[in-house]
Amino acid sequence: MSSKIRSLFQGFRSSLDADHGASGSFSGDSDSPTTSTTTYDSSPAAAIPRRAPPTPPDEKDNHHHLKTLQHFQQSIPVHSKNSSPSSTTSPENQHNHNQHKNYENRETMTDAQQIEVNGLVHSISHTLSLSNSPTSTFHSPVGSYNSRTTFNRPSGKQLKPFNTQDIKILLLENVNVAAREILESQGYQVEFHKSSLPEDQLVEKIRDVHVIGIRSKTKLSAKVLREAKNLLVIGCFCIGTNQVDLEYAAKHGISVFNSPFSNSRSVAELVISEIIALARQLGDRSMEMHNGTWNKVSARCWEIRGKILGIIGYGHIGSQLSVLSEAMGMKVIYYDVVPLMALGTAKQVPTLKDLLEQADFVTLHVPEIPETKNMIGAEQLAQMKQGSYLINASRGSVVDIPALIESMRSGHTAGAALDVYPSEPAANGDYFNDTLNTWGNDLRSLKNLILTPHIGGSTEEAQSAIGVEVGEALVRYINSGSTIGCVNMPEVTLRSLTLAEENHVRVIFIHSNRPGVLRQVNSILGDHNVDKQMSDSRGDVAYLMADISDVNAGDIRSLYESLEALSSKIMTRVLY
Ligand SMILES: NC(=O)c1ccc[n+]([C@@H]2O[C@H](COP(=O)([O-])OP(=O)(O)OC[C@H]3O[C@@H](n4cnc5c(N)ncnc54)[C@H](O)[C@@H]3O)[C@@H](O)[C@H]2O)c1
Repeated sequence: MSSKIRSLFQGFRSSLDADHGASGSFSGDSDSPTTSTTTYDSSPAAAIPRRAPPTPPDEKDNHHHLKTLQHFQQSIPVHSKNSSPSSTTSPENQHNHNQHKNYENRETMTDAQQIEVNGLVHSISHTLSLSNSPTSTFHSPVGSYNSRTTFNRPSGKQLKPFNTQDIKILLLENVNVAAREILESQGYQVEFHKSSLPEDQLVEKIRDVHVIGIRSKTKLSAKVLREAKNLLVIGCFCIGTNQVDLEYAAKHGISVFNSPFSNSRSVAELVISEIIALARQLGDRSMEMHNGTWNKVSARCWEIRGKILGIIGYGHIGSQLSVLSEAMGMKVIYYDVVPLMALGTAKQVPTLKDLLEQADFVTLHVPEIPETKNMIGAEQLAQMKQGSYLINASRGSVVDIPALIESMRSGHTAGAALDVYPSEPAANGDYFNDTLNTWGNDLRSLKNLILTPHIGGSTEEAQSAIGVEVGEALVRYINSGSTIGCVNMPEVTLRSLTLAEENHVRVIFIHSNRPGVLRQVNSILGDHNVDKQMSDSRGDVAYLMADISDVNAGDIRSLYESLEALSSKIMTRVLY
């Protein structure tokens, strides 16, 4: 496509911003982020350079457009990227530094040392006694989470709506470095904050950005989103999305992406460790040793080989667990509300009662929905085998905890592991007490009970995988309009345009879902050669994507203006 058309669209983009009430200025950049390691130069001086004036396609008959372009040139500075990466202490630098430190430690510690025991001189190597300190790092196999990076890379022509450096992204809550790298590699301006922002600062910041990346602490309510005049898309770098007003976002053309399954393996591995730990009473033995007590026992300690694992909910986590536990010699049965193909030699049982009556270990992997509230209560615990174990790493509301306390006190339940609770503290600290959950002290007093603070999915690998998944979803959405994986819009995508398809344009029209709109849209698109088109709706919002060939600058302008004029319009985007 000619540079003329590109320039033209840049003008349209500025008017798009203006239509959505944008201030038209990025001068707010001059505010230095308070708690951040910023990755671009946000100083007022750096905001001075201007984009080279684009050439209007036809200066004679585009007075209105020229005006838009002038406004555009005056209002949008080109943001230069920050100085060298070495000027910041990035997590990678820290990582390398730590690795280096460990390496140094190893070198000095591996030298054999002489000690004297009972009058005899022994030679020992400290290497053998070194544990993996918290600064140690592991390199997970590439296939465990990186493979999706290459799998999802768009292979065709990358659609660029505008100079990507004009895309401003605000990343809060220490979003994983993998996401930052993906977004920065696109040339977007990424502003990074380690924590969430107080609402007044968030409102200030969100006014200018096109993309915001958050985790669970940042609340994007309607009140906050009302200020986000330029916002195209929200990335939730976590599982849940209830911190975002999804409906308000959809009605204002803002798509929301998350990463629901990137940590499935991490949860499955935690549960595997807990099965063995419960069978061998490892938690109790470890606590006793920490208190100076040597208590070598084998009574009621078991191997897990040959035991029956009952998995409730055979989804992403449950099915991973099925494979892992069979590899350790367990027999697997599972209960799910839908018939699902068994992996390995696992067997689906028809009722929850069937599972509870047979399993030595029962583990829960169901969603939090009304049907799963207190799914395991006094009745279900009584149905479980005498001396069996319960594991819950799904959601806190799924188990009736007072009933579990009773069952454990009576000795019917031999042990339990809980990672999730009906009420969980919002921050780390000594908050797991009776004020939070009335039974807190009773629970803590039980033997062979493993309590963890909702860490099932909390691994470096999961965080990185979440960063990659959401980061790539954002790039796809910005550059090609694909809503695959979106939680508040219909999922719509078209195959990529190829480099050979030169004079093609992709039109995205987010609109109110009401009768007659498609007819109006098609009468606008119908004047052109529509190569492919897809449309779908979700509630009140519909999303249409169409690839149009053989367009010139004038076509793009008329398409854009005609769609913008429709009363059903929520947002129009034109990519090429
Ligand atoms: N502890 C953590 O850190 C952590 C991390 C990730 C996920 N989770 C939680 O783990 C749970 C499972 O996650 P997932 O990714 O495997 O979900 P998933 O959606 O892939 O699987 C859930 C399965 O449960 C089944 N199910 C739904 N209702 C059921 C019912 N009433 N009885 C039996 N089966 C039912 C579904 O059919 C599905 O197969 C979710 O609650 C999730 O929030 C916890």
